This record gives sequence, C-alpha cells and structure tokens, in this order.
Amino acid sequence: MNGLPMNVPAPGLPARVRIHEVGARDGLQNEKTAVPTAVKAEFIHRLAAAGLTTIEATSFVHPKWVPQLADAEQLFPELGDLAGVHLPVLVPNERGLDRALALGATRIAVFGSATETFASRNLNRTVAESLAMFEPVVARAKEGGAHVRGYLSMCFGDPWEGPVPVHQVVRVAKALLDLGCDELSLGDTIGVATPGHVLALLGELGEAGVPTDRIGVHFHDTYGQALSNTLAALGHGVTTVDASAGGLGGCPYAKSATGNLATEDLVWMLDGLGIETGVDLTALTATSAWMAEQLGRPSPSRTVRALSHKE
Ligand code: HMG
Ligand code: MG
Repeated sequence: MNGLPMNVPAPGLPARVRIHEVGARDGLQNEKTAVPTAVKAEFIHRLAAAGLTTIEATSFVHPKWVPQLADAEQLFPELGDLAGVHLPVLVPNERGLDRALALGATRIAVFGSATETFASRNLNRTVAESLAMFEPVVARAKEGGAHVRGYLSMCFGDPWEGPVPVHQVVRVAKALLDLGCDELSLGDTIGVATPGHVLALLGELGEAGVPTDRIGVHFHDTYGQALSNTLAALGHGVTTVDASAGGLGGCPYAKSATGNLATEDLVWMLDGLGIETGVDLTALTATSAWMAEQLGRPSPSRTVRALSHKE
C-alpha cells in the first residue's frame, strides 16, 4: 500500500474542492489542555506546507469564553510569513473585529446560530440580537476590503431543541447573507445530519435564491455520516468543504459535538474520486500524527491511523 487511494472518478461531481481547514481554531478551541502558541504556529505552518490554502487560525472572542484561544494576539503575528495562504479568524462583535484588524486580518468569520438555545449559550444573545451584533462587524469589515464568512450552527439538529426545521435555517442563512457575508458555512454542529436532510436544506436554500457557490458545508462525524453528507453536497454542486486536520475538535458550547470531519478522511475520498484539492495527503497525515503526539492522544481520524500504522 503506497498510502494513496486508487483514482476512480465518479460522474456528477466537481473537478476541484476548496478545503477550509479549521483544526487550529475549531479543533484546538476544544482541547482541555492549553496548547503552547509555538506549537499552534508550527501546526499552521505545517498545514500550509501540506498544501492547505485556507487555514482558520484563531478566534478574537472573549478569552474567558474560550481560554484555549486567548493567545490570538501572540499567535497571529507568527503567521505573517505565510504568503498566499488565507488565514480567516472568528470575530463575534466589534471588539473582536478591532482586535483582528489591528493585527492585519483580511478574512473574518462571524458565527450565528439557527436555534435560540445555541445562540444564547454561544453568544449570550438571541438569534435576532446576534444578527444585530454582526451587522456593524460585517459592514466595517467589508468597507475595509475584508472577506467575510458567515457560519451558521445547528443547521440540522440542536442538543436542546431537537431537529431543526429547514425553513428556520433558511431564514437565518438569508439574514447572514443579507448582512453582506460573502460565503455561508452550514454547520452540522452535533453531527446528526444524513444525506437526504443535507439535500433538502441545499434545495430550499437554492429555492430561496442562495447561490450554491456561496455555500460551504461543515460536518461533524458524531454518527459517522460526515463523508456521506459531504458526497451528497458535492453532488449538489457545493465546492467548499470545512474539515479539521486529524479530526480535532467539537464545540465548547455544545457538549454532544464530537470531532469535525477529519481533513485526511476527506482528502482520501477526494483523491480517490480524482477531485483536485492541492493537498499532499502524506504530509498532512504526518502533521496530524505530530499534533496527536503534542496532545498526548491518538488522532480520531481513520485515515491518519491507517496511514500511520507501521507493519
Ligand atoms: P458577553 O459576556 O455578552 O459580552 O459575551 P459583552 O458584550 O457583554 O462584553 C462583556 C465584556 O467582555 C466587556 O468587557 C467587553 O469589552 C469584553 P468589560 O467592559 O466588562 O471590561 N469583550 C471582549 N473582550 C475581548 N474580545 C472580544 C470581546 N467581546 C466583549 N471579542 C461574547 C458575548 C460574544 C463576547 C461571548 O459570548 C463570546 O466571546 N462568545 C464566543 C464563543 C465561541 O467562541 N464559541 C465557539 C465558536 S462557535 C463554533 O465553534 C461553531 C462553529 O465551529 C461551526 C459549527 O461547528 O457549527 C463556528
Ligand atoms: Mg465544527
């Protein structure tokens, strides 16, 4: 076995996929132990060297809410040499935007919720209040020429409210785009989606006038559905997929959220389908194996485990 899947394309899929790597932010925000800033910086440099071109770096949120990312001011300047790599950062409010802009960030992400309970737990706001909080953030970021991503969490199910109606998700998704977000990332924060549900949501978003090329998908693998859901989304025309190196992460304000879709599992499937990503699977796997050593536990990614296995 040479560590690469056999290349057998399938019809009806895009030629190229852009991977939005979230391991350094979504992954590390969930670690119990604080990861040293130098390790985070090396992780991001290694991800870039493996060919990832969009690497979410950190969050400018309240440090009491997410202490794991309280070193954003120290980390971000360490990444200044990564020419050609987009380094989006999470920003919930104007205070966060000021901090990000002061360091020269050119890509930001606001993060909304399709449900009231998660909005309250994650942002201490109702859905309407959080959209009002984002309004000046998006406007100021766009005025300054920044690219703005709008995350939407709990698009399929919510641990407190149960299944989330598609029309409820479409309403908040439209509101985020109406604020001026350039792209939307649909989050299955607790990993309960199945492919039919994904297609139903994408179909209704299309009917509501949301162009598919502005949609990214963000799946969690709690029930082993992340790749099936990704394949369904690709068949619908989605070409931006969020993933986390080594399958790191979850969400500190949604306890049932387990790991994000592992980037290596995604790249294995996309390589096999002949879909271009620009990512070197061998280098990426070595990076996640190294990060697992730093964290003192094995990666949950099946691909990382399989490719790291020594006879
Ligand atoms: P709050 O307590 O309502 O804040 O929290 P506030 O606006 O009342 O301000 C209180 C104090 O915090 C003030 O200081 C502010 O200046 C300060 P004081 O005047 O008392 O000295 N403050 C800040 N300090 C630093 N940076 C800031 C900031 N903002 C206010 N940005 C807040 C509201 C939004 C700040 C808080 O709820 C928060 O930080 N939440 C972040 C939670 C978070 O990061 N969650 C994880 C990311 S979401 C996710 O992972 C899901 C996703 O991956 C997709 C998926 O999987 O679904 C995206
Ligand atoms: Mg996530």
